[in-house]
Amino acid sequence: MRSFWLLTSLAAILGPAASADTAPFTYNRTDFLLHGKPYQMIGGQMDPQRIPNEYWRDRLSMARAMGLNTIFSYIFWNDIEPSPGTWDFTGQNDIKKYFQIAQEEGLNIVLRPGPYICGEREWGGFPAWLSEVPGMAVRTNNKPFLDASKAYLEHLAEEVAPLQVTNGGPILMVQVENEYGSFGNDHIYVAALRDMLKSQYEVPLYTNDGGGESYLAGGQITGVLAETDGDPKTGFEARDKFVTDPTSLGPQLDGEYYVTWIDTWGSNSTHNTNDGNAAALKSIQDDVAWVLTNKSSISIYMFHGGTNMGFQNAGLWIDNALSAVTSSYDYGAPLDESGRPTDAYHAIRETIIAHLGDNSTVPDIPVKSPMIDIPTFQLKPSVALFDALPEPARQQNPTNMEALGQSYGFIMYRHKVNTAVKGSLKPGDVPRDRVLVYVNGERVGVVDRIYMVPATVTLDLKAGDVLELLVENMGRIDYGPALVEQRKGVVGNVTIGDNVLLDWVTYPLALEQPPAPQAKYRGPAPSATSTPIFYTGSFDVETIGDTFLELPGWVKGNVWVNGVNLGRYWIIGPQQSLYLPGCYLKNKGNQITVLALEPLAEATSAVGISKRVWGNNPDPDAP
Ligand SMILES: *[C@@H]1O[C@H](CO)[C@@H](O)[C@H](O)[C@H]1NC(C)=O
Ligand SMILES: *[C@@H]1O[C@H](CO)[C@@H](O)[C@H](O)[C@H]1NC(C)=O
Ligand SMILES: *[C@@H]1O[C@H](CO)[C@@H](O)[C@H](O)[C@H]1NC(C)=O
Ligand SMILES: *[C@@H]1O[C@H](CO)[C@@H](O)[C@H](O)[C@H]1NC(C)=O
Ligand SMILES: *[C@@H]1O[C@H](CO)[C@@H](O)[C@H](O)[C@H]1NC(C)=O
Repeated sequence: MRSFWLLTSLAAILGPAASADTAPFTYNRTDFLLHGKPYQMIGGQMDPQRIPNEYWRDRLSMARAMGLNTIFSYIFWNDIEPSPGTWDFTGQNDIKKYFQIAQEEGLNIVLRPGPYICGEREWGGFPAWLSEVPGMAVRTNNKPFLDASKAYLEHLAEEVAPLQVTNGGPILMVQVENEYGSFGNDHIYVAALRDMLKSQYEVPLYTNDGGGESYLAGGQITGVLAETDGDPKTGFEARDKFVTDPTSLGPQLDGEYYVTWIDTWGSNSTHNTNDGNAAALKSIQDDVAWVLTNKSSISIYMFHGGTNMGFQNAGLWIDNALSAVTSSYDYGAPLDESGRPTDAYHAIRETIIAHLGDNSTVPDIPVKSPMIDIPTFQLKPSVALFDALPEPARQQNPTNMEALGQSYGFIMYRHKVNTAVKGSLKPGDVPRDRVLVYVNGERVGVVDRIYMVPATVTLDLKAGDVLELLVENMGRIDYGPALVEQRKGVVGNVTIGDNVLLDWVTYPLALEQPPAPQAKYRGPAPSATSTPIFYTGSFDVETIGDTFLELPGWVKGNVWVNGVNLGRYWIIGPQQSLYLPGCYLKNKGNQITVLALEPLAEATSAVGISKRVWGNNPDPDAP
C-alpha cells in the first residue's frame, strides 16, 4: 500500500513523465520529451484563420525555413460556429488540414483553442451571438458559457484530436484558456475547462499567463503546466518564484515572445516594425539566444500575423476609448502580411542556426514569386447603400444588432420625426461604435467611440424630417475591462436633448456580399455629406501574383475583390493599402467593389502596388 501511495504521489509531483514514460510527448521538471528525448520548442505563432488556406503550405514552409520546429495556433470559435449550432470547418476553418500540412512540412503543433483567445480578434474569438444567450457570463463558472464552450471544444476536438502525437500526428500540447490571470481568478471555471480538455485530448495541457504574481495566481491551475509570456527573463523568474504547486511545474516556455506589436487605426498611430532597426533586431536575437541556451522553449508572437479579413479585427479599450485594430495583422512579424521575410526573419534565423550549431537541418528559404503592380484603374458609383436595404425590423425602441441575429458590419436606424425636437444626440448608452448621422439624406455628424471625447452632434429637427443613424461595429473588444459587454448598434434609447425618440425602422447590414449594382446608378452624387455609395470596377492582370491595393484619397470603407471582403480602409492610417493575395485573382475581369462611407467626387481610382507604404493622414472626422 505504502509503495503504491509513493508511486502515485511521485507521479503527481513529477507530472506526466513519471506516469507515462511511454507517452510520445511528455515532460519532466526541466525538459519537454519527445519520444523520450529532450525537445526544445523553437516556436512561432501563426493562426490559420488569418491566412488564405491556399497559402497555408507556403507560410508553414517559411516557418520551417526560419528554423522553427513548432507552430502555435489560436483557433477562432466565432468563425467556426457563426450561429448557434451551425459548424463550419471548411476553407480557412479547415484546421485539421492546416495541421496536416504543418506535419508534412516538418512542424509540430501547440493548439490554443480558447474558447477565449484574445489575439486582437473580434471579441477574442467569441461568437457575437453569445450576447443574446440568457444568463450568459463569459469566462466564468457560468452554465450557459460552459455549455456553449463545451459544444465548441467538442466539435473542434472531433476534427483535430486524431492528430495528436499519441496517434502519430503533430499536436504536442493544448492550452487551457488564455492569459486568464489577466482577467480573473475563478479557478472553478478554469478547472472546468481543464477537465473538458482532459476528456478530449491525451497530450499535456498548459496555461499561459503574464510573467507576474497576480497573473500567475489567477491563471495557474492544479495538474496543468504553468507557462508565461512576454519578456522571457521576467517570465521564467516569476514562474520560479510564484508557482509552487508541483503539478504545474516543468520546463520553461515563453509562450508569446513579442517581437513587435499590433497596429491600431489613428492619425497618430505609426506602423510597428523592426525593419532597419539594428538595435531592436539585436535585442530580439539576444533574447532568443538566451532562451535557447537556457535550454528553454519559446514561441515568437507573431511569426506571421496575416490579415483580419472582412470585419474580424478586435478593438482594444485604451484610455477610455476604442482603439480599433487594423485589418492588416502584419504585426511587424518576421514574415510579413504577404508572406515575405523581413529583417527580423533573417536575424532570428541566424540566431537559431547559430544555436543549432549547424544549418543542415534548416531548409533553404523558399524563393517567392515577385509581388505584382496593377496599373491605376477607375471605379464608378454602382448603388447607394441606402438604395440597397434589406427587409427592416420595425421597433418602438431600437435594439442592438445581435438581437436581430447579426454579428458584424453595419446597422442603420431610421426615424421619422413627428414633433419638432432639438438638442444634442445620444445614440444609445454609448456609441457602438462609429455612428454616421444623416438628416434628410445629408450627413451632419460623426459620433465615434474611438475618440476619448466623441463629437457632440446637435440637431434641430422639425416634423417630417428623417433621421438616419448608420452604426458601424468597429470590432468587439478582446482585452480590457469592457470585454464582457459587447453588444453593437444601439443599446438603450436614442435621445435628442431629453426626448426619447420612438418608432424606428432598422436595417441590419452585415454586408457578407456587396449588393448588386443598379443597371443605371440612381443614388446621390458623391459629396462630403452624401450617404454611402458602393463603387465597382474591373481589372485584368498579366501575371497573377500578390499585390497591395491602394485607394488614393478615399476616406473610409471596405473592399471586396471577386467576392472576398479584404477588410477596411481608412485614410487616417497607418494602414494605407490592403493585402490582395494572388490566390483570389484571375487574369481577366477581376471584379472589385468599394464601399465609400464618406464618398468624395475626386476619389474614384485604385491601384495595385508591389511595395507597400505605411503612413498617416489627418482625420477628416476628428471631433
Ligand atoms: C529530464 O529528462 C532529461 C532526458 O532524459 C534528462 O536529461 C534530465 O536530467 C531530466 N530532468 C530531470 C529533472 O529529471
Ligand atoms: C535559465 O533560466 C532560469 C530561470 O528560470 C534561471 O534560474 C537560470 O539561471 C537560467 N540559466 C541560464 C544558463 O541562464
Ligand atoms: C496627435 O499628435 C499631435 C502631436 O503630438 C497632438 O497634438 C494631437 O492631439 C494628437 N492627436 C490625437 C488624436 O491624439
Ligand atoms: C549553410 O551554411 C553554408 C555555409 O555557410 C551555406 O553555404 C548554406 O547556404 C547554408 N544553408 C542554409 C540552409 O542556410
Ligand atoms: C427608454 O425609453 C423608455 C420610454 O420609451 C423608457 O421606459 C425606458 O426606461 C428607457 N430605457 C432606458 C435604458 O433609458
